[in-house]
Amino acid sequence: MSKVLIVGAGSVGSVVTQKCAQVPQVFSDIVLASRTESKCKAIAAQIDQPIHTAQVDADNVSDLISLLRREKPKLVINVALPYQDLSIMDACLAAGAHYLDTANYEPPDTARFEYRWQWDYQKRFVDAGLTALLGSGFDPGATNIFTAYLNKHYFDEIHELDIIDVNGGDHGYPFATNFNPEINIREVSAACRHWENGAFVTTPPLSKMTLYTCPEGIGTFTLFRMYHEELESLTKHYPSLQRAQFWMSFSANYLKHLEVLENVGLTGIEPINYRGQSIVPIQFLAHLLPDPSTLGPRTRGKTCIGCIVRGSKGGKERLMHIYNVCDHQACYREVQSQAIAYTTGVPAMIGAKMILEGTWCEAGVWNVEQYNPDPFMEDMNRYGLPWQLAELDPAFQLEFA
Ligand SMILES: NC(=O)c1ccc[n+]([C@@H]2O[C@H](COP(=O)([O-])OP(=O)(O)OC[C@H]3O[C@@H](n4cnc5c(N)ncnc54)[C@H](OP(=O)(O)O)[C@@H]3O)[C@@H](O)[C@H]2O)c1
Repeated sequence: MSKVLIVGAGSVGSVVTQKCAQVPQVFSDIVLASRTESKCKAIAAQIDQPIHTAQVDADNVSDLISLLRREKPKLVINVALPYQDLSIMDACLAAGAHYLDTANYEPPDTARFEYRWQWDYQKRFVDAGLTALLGSGFDPGATNIFTAYLNKHYFDEIHELDIIDVNGGDHGYPFATNFNPEINIREVSAACRHWENGAFVTTPPLSKMTLYTCPEGIGTFTLFRMYHEELESLTKHYPSLQRAQFWMSFSANYLKHLEVLENVGLTGIEPINYRGQSIVPIQFLAHLLPDPSTLGPRTRGKTCIGCIVRGSKGGKERLMHIYNVCDHQACYREVQSQAIAYTTGVPAMIGAKMILEGTWCEAGVWNVEQYNPDPFMEDMNRYGLPWQLAELDPAFQLEFA
């Protein structure tokens, strides 16, 4: 029986709040805070249990500390933006609350996300006797736990990891992003880095692709290799990995729009002067695009996100595929959200549950793969993200185009 404070009333925040409310034996008291309190109230109105709401600017550490001292949550779930990670961690340390997020810190003025800023908090969290759980969404999050689970149960050593993120859903807009547009476009347009023989190799954004057929008849998709933050922690925690890559599906339509927007300068992160006013082009673009929290009723199709892992067991080569399939409309029926927010919000709730139940609660700053994956995997089956496991022929290779 614990009080939790959720920061960020966006598409993911809405799902986390609803999923926490479904487990009142753990989350006995829920507070939802965001920059715009009316968004918190709109989410609270969809839920039968009482959800308390508050206004907070999470860039402002003293505002956050006042809120934490007033509400006294045992844990803060940060589903605002990556820019707020460090200020919320600082406030948790000052007020004595555990911390969880789904995306690593990224400075607003540099499009480069890295764990080092948050890993540097290790000693402070240990000294305070508090837990910070990083990257407890789907990717990062479930993909890290899938890797840990395969490593634990199916391999003596893992050598190659391909994380495959397919969104086969269609929202019917010419161009929209499934989560925060600013963060999404910064991530997709960044240079690609993948792990090869002990080092990250940098290649131009989206310059390598492959055709991939999903299981369960979901379809065949064009995947593009890109950098994703779990590659940093997984290659650190599994030094036996010789190669690690992240692949995401994009439609030709999405890529066409992105290219034009980049070419006309609308994805820029440097402020420009427009008629005497300073504006950041990508923030203006995000303002024009559909809010991801409104995509739920119109998105149809399925996601299929998982890991293909190659390694050895008993001296033999082995290839395993572990994945979850999520149906956008089923998510909408349950929590009025599309599957990208759902697949992020459910692991955030489960990670929070792991901390509050004391299952994963060592003091310090941790990536999810550093804990025992088994209880988390059980909860994924229980709370809406059932996973499948298949042994593949070791001769299988992703074909590069
Ligand atoms: N690991 C994964 O699988 C995964 C997948 C998707 C997304 N994510 C992460 O999930 C997070 C949320 O994404 P989303 O799609 O829900 O974004 P979103 O819809 O844009 O929602 C973000 C919310 O954060 C609030 N916020 C922003 N700055 C704030 C501040 N300074 N103080 C207080 N509240 C602030 C916004 O406030 P107001 O609207 O109240 O003004 C908004 O409601 C992002 O960090 C994203 O990177 C992770």
